[in-house]
Amino acid sequence: MEMEKWAAGRRMALILVLLCCVFGGDAYDVLDPTGNITISWDFQEIKVLVSLHNYQLYRHVEDPGWRLSWFWAGDEVIYDTTGAEATEQGNCSLFVGAHSCEKHPVMVDLARGVPYARQVDHCCRGGVLSSLTQNSEAATSAFLMHVGNFKSSSDGIPQKPFNFSLGVPGYRCSNATMVAPTRTRIGKHRHVQALMTWQATCFYSQTAVGPFRACCVSLPTFYSRTIVECPHCTCGACPAGTSTAPQCQDAEIRCTGHMCPIRVHWHVKKSYTEYWRVKLSINNFNRFKNYSDWNIVVQHPSLQELTQVFSFAYEPLVQRGTINDTGLFWGLPRFNQMLPQDGTVQTEVLLRKGKDFSFSGGWALPRKIYFDGSECAMPPPDDFPQLPSSSPVQRFSGGHRWLASGAVLVLGLLLT
Ligand SMILES: *[C@@H]1O[C@H](CO)[C@@H](O)[C@H](O)[C@H]1NC(C)=O
Ligand SMILES: *[C@@H]1O[C@H](CO)[C@@H](O)[C@H](O)[C@H]1NC(C)=O
Ligand SMILES: *[C@@H]1O[C@H](CO)[C@@H](O)[C@H](O)[C@H]1NC(C)=O
Ligand SMILES: *[C@@H]1O[C@H](CO)[C@@H](O)[C@H](O)[C@H]1NC(C)=O
Ligand SMILES: *[C@@H]1O[C@H](CO)[C@@H](O)[C@H](O)[C@H]1NC(C)=O
Ligand SMILES: *[C@@H]1O[C@H](CO)[C@@H](O)[C@H](O)[C@H]1NC(C)=O
Repeated sequence: MEMEKWAAGRRMALILVLLCCVFGGDAYDVLDPTGNITISWDFQEIKVLVSLHNYQLYRHVEDPGWRLSWFWAGDEVIYDTTGAEATEQGNCSLFVGAHSCEKHPVMVDLARGVPYARQVDHCCRGGVLSSLTQNSEAATSAFLMHVGNFKSSSDGIPQKPFNFSLGVPGYRCSNATMVAPTRTRIGKHRHVQALMTWQATCFYSQTAVGPFRACCVSLPTFYSRTIVECPHCTCGACPAGTSTAPQCQDAEIRCTGHMCPIRVHWHVKKSYTEYWRVKLSINNFNRFKNYSDWNIVVQHPSLQELTQVFSFAYEPLVQRGTINDTGLFWGLPRFNQMLPQDGTVQTEVLLRKGKDFSFSGGWALPRKIYFDGSECAMPPPDDFPQLPSSSPVQRFSGGHRWLASGAVLVLGLLLT
């Protein structure tokens, strides 16, 4: 009886930890503490070079790409641009022929393959920004603007614009501040420097995206008959009827118990003497969306013993802090870099059994998974598949299992 009460209390505590991690998180990300997107304005002779640097280890900006906007503080106009364009010209009656006279210009990157004359370095990829880990070269976007003042129709330094937005869900940006002018190396010995540089910084926060998740994790294992499915209705309101309800048939996302566009399957597939094997599959239940440059972050202590990855690229996410059990998987070019609409990508990974290894207490299951930078909902630890009690691979007793959950609890507290 006492034991039951204690277990129930512990369960409650775990639920609270889960709730606080799901809904209480702010912009601080333990897996990428300094991750940000920096917007720089480098003033050159008569033009401004605007660059977006994605300094995030694993978050990227996907199609349809960034839509960078701000408010002009004065009477600025954009005479012309290279590498990007404003979505609206606005009222240019006082400056006929200007590119945009909007008080709140929204700039979009040009598409791939525009004529060379309209390009600058790092432009023209449709607003897509790679993560730093996947491709540091493609983690920067840039365009040039020629800005002047509406009233005086003179070139010169505009007043500092404010209220920057990336136009990508989940990001909030600071206002611009003056920083040391950007220095750029030209050739071997020479540096050139901007006349002046302004910077604004944008941070991602999962809470800014809304209450629903975008993905969930299911956990089949070879040692249990129960496939632990994604939590019910994780990613949206469940349809009123059954799976054949009409609103579900026409919906963009396939009708499932979890209603998530993405499900990640972590399948503990096989045990060998010194190794174990996981089959990792990602299902796209969205019938009208291709994820062209998908990635997943996995947190599991065994990733330090990762021996072989069969058909994804992999790079550990090395942290400055204490967590170094995290890695990034993504697709291989021309093979599975795109997760197709209504489709699947999958791989198998081989991990060495380290000294802490166990199939017991859910140890072999991932601690956290993120798809395209957004944290996936995990089934609650109480639902984790159990080893059959007669299994020879079992190493811990039931009491130890609670110890393991306690460790998860402590970890959860440390991470919040
Ligand atoms: C943004 O990231 C860069 C690179 O990691 C870092 O140097 C910079 O301090 C960060 N900016 C802020 C405001 O945290
Ligand atoms: C455009 O701006 C000019 C000058 O401010 C103003 O006189 C004119 O009414 C505006 N036109 C429209 C359609 O708003
Ligand atoms: C700028 O953002 C602040 C809040 O961040 C808001 O109160 C203000 O109205 C915005 N300014 C404009 C011109 O939209
Ligand atoms: C940026 O500046 C504007 C105008 O001064 C202000 O309304 C807004 O709150 C500021 N935004 C932030 C994030 O500080
Ligand atoms: C997704 O990719 C497939 C194959 O390339 C293509 O036929 C389909 O139109 C794409 N879907 C969308 C929504 O772009
Ligand atoms: C990760 O951290 C552990 C313990 O702090 C250490 O033993 C291990 O060498 C580290 N691994 C890497 C790849 O940094």
